[in-house]
Amino acid sequence: MTKTILQQNNTSTHTLESYLSAVFTEAFTELGFDTSYAKVQLSARPELSQFQCNGAMPLAKIQKRAPLQIAQDIVEQVKGNLIFTEISAIAPGFINITLSDTFLARWTTEILNDQRLGCPKVHTPTKVMMDFGGPNVAKPLHIGHIRSPLIGDCLQRVYRFCGDEVLSDVHLGDWGTQMGMLIEEIKKMYPDLPYFDESFTGSYPKESPVTVDELSEIYPRASARCKADESELEKARLATAKLQQGHRGYLALWQHFIDVSIKALKQDYADLGVYFDLWKGESDVQHLIEPMVKDALEKHYAEKSQGAIIVPVAKGESDKTPPLILVKSDGAVMYGTTDLATILERVRDYKAQKIIYVVDKRQSLHFKQVFAAAKKMGIAPNVEMVHIGFGTLNGKDGKPFKTRAGGVMRLSTLIDEARSRASLRELHDIPENARQDTIDKIAFATVKFADLSNVYTSDYIFDLDKFSQYEGKTGPYLLYSAVRIKSILRKLGQVEATSKILPASNDSERKLQLVLTQLPNAVAKTYDKCEPHHLCEYAYQVAATFNKFYAESPIAGEQNITLQNGRIALSQLTLKQLEFVLGLLGIEIPERM
Ligand code: ARG
Repeated sequence: MTKTILQQNNTSTHTLESYLSAVFTEAFTELGFDTSYAKVQLSARPELSQFQCNGAMPLAKIQKRAPLQIAQDIVEQVKGNLIFTEISAIAPGFINITLSDTFLARWTTEILNDQRLGCPKVHTPTKVMMDFGGPNVAKPLHIGHIRSPLIGDCLQRVYRFCGDEVLSDVHLGDWGTQMGMLIEEIKKMYPDLPYFDESFTGSYPKESPVTVDELSEIYPRASARCKADESELEKARLATAKLQQGHRGYLALWQHFIDVSIKALKQDYADLGVYFDLWKGESDVQHLIEPMVKDALEKHYAEKSQGAIIVPVAKGESDKTPPLILVKSDGAVMYGTTDLATILERVRDYKAQKIIYVVDKRQSLHFKQVFAAAKKMGIAPNVEMVHIGFGTLNGKDGKPFKTRAGGVMRLSTLIDEARSRASLRELHDIPENARQDTIDKIAFATVKFADLSNVYTSDYIFDLDKFSQYEGKTGPYLLYSAVRIKSILRKLGQVEATSKILPASNDSERKLQLVLTQLPNAVAKTYDKCEPHHLCEYAYQVAATFNKFYAESPIAGEQNITLQNGRIALSQLTLKQLEFVLGLLGIEIPERM
């Protein structure tokens, strides 16, 4: 088990819980109790207290005394500490803890004035490579392609923020049979092109014979033809093998596919606000494959089987994991082969210590085989490989999402639908030139928040009507809440940067302060488990708690200037946190909406 980020940073400065645990640890030491039970956590019964310590129960067994007595001893020991306003032992042995308002306000003020809003960095940065996006050349992005970049991009932001060294790779699908299909289809369309002339020795045209839009029409046609006719598929396979072996004309034609596709894809991902450090693909490791396979055969990690070369990966008799095929009997290399060679490259050239794949969970078996083969073949020693396998996006019928006509929906169509929902909103005080930008921001917030707020492994129903609501756990609600704080602060004019949060003057103010202490926990959970939904959950809690606070606590209308300033500072911290968390989710907040 690797340590979680908070365990790595077990100093009292990072989370309120660890600070309180340190106070309890001291008391436990005084009392001669095992300090591993001195853990303080957020209360499971917020109506009773803010925090709790349950250590008396396990201690009772060791000490052979009633848990309530032990709890009372502990309470006696700590109750003089002025950071507590109420601390009590209750049956059977819980300790309920409520902080003094002064202490809570001091804590939140520190977060407000901390550049990292109280969040720790990892002790020793890890070199992490992230593999997400995974688009295929010549196929336009469709709705099934949305989850990987959204989850992957959020995780790369979180990992970077926590201090790791991250390199993200889009890992284009550019080397499979679909390439041969395209080549054969274009040969049918334009047989006279020089790419197909075996005796051609000149230089090939600079311009692509096909545009990216044409490619996206050619591909389904080619694919359908190969599905219907085995001999067509055979031709496509042969063309793929020739391409992989370096056929000059095919390579030149293929390069056009790559160039036009990358250009379009870069635009699509930029529109989504998703960024990649590397634009590599399956084809980039072709040169590593032959030596890798040779080595695996020599060392007996791989073996020949019915003309193919395979790596058995099952561990023992009962393990039914099928072997990974490295080379097919026709000599073509497979998806797993390029994935293995890519691991080799990532470890050797990029010094990756951890590789995270954000890919549909239907590929779980594939990654299981690849990771096992990589370990067996010794190409990833001490490298942690993780598959973040996400669920499917379904229609209201619970089946994979389709357009009304029954086809696969393009990603751009989906975003446009979100835009048209967003444009239904009456936008206030927005200059004409900011209108489109605001609508875009609402649309992206709608889609991104909806996607990221699910536990990534679950399938979910894509219901734009629901996601576009301005109430509940939705992107628009979050934006609306943040914009509202912006507007409150704007109306009050410039406020000092190092403002002070004051002891709460009512319960909703106290609750808001308490929630705002939880940011490091939300970030840590996301980091440790690669689960963005913790951030969504946190952002929602912050927004909802603020809105409740604001309904009960006037800010502009508050006559007492000291009180007003404290509330302004609290609103500033709320806004900072919302901006920060939504930023990690890849969501931008407009000025007005
Ligand atoms: N292009 C692949 C697909 O469409 C996804 C690639 C995922 N990444 C990887 N290294 N295998 O299924």
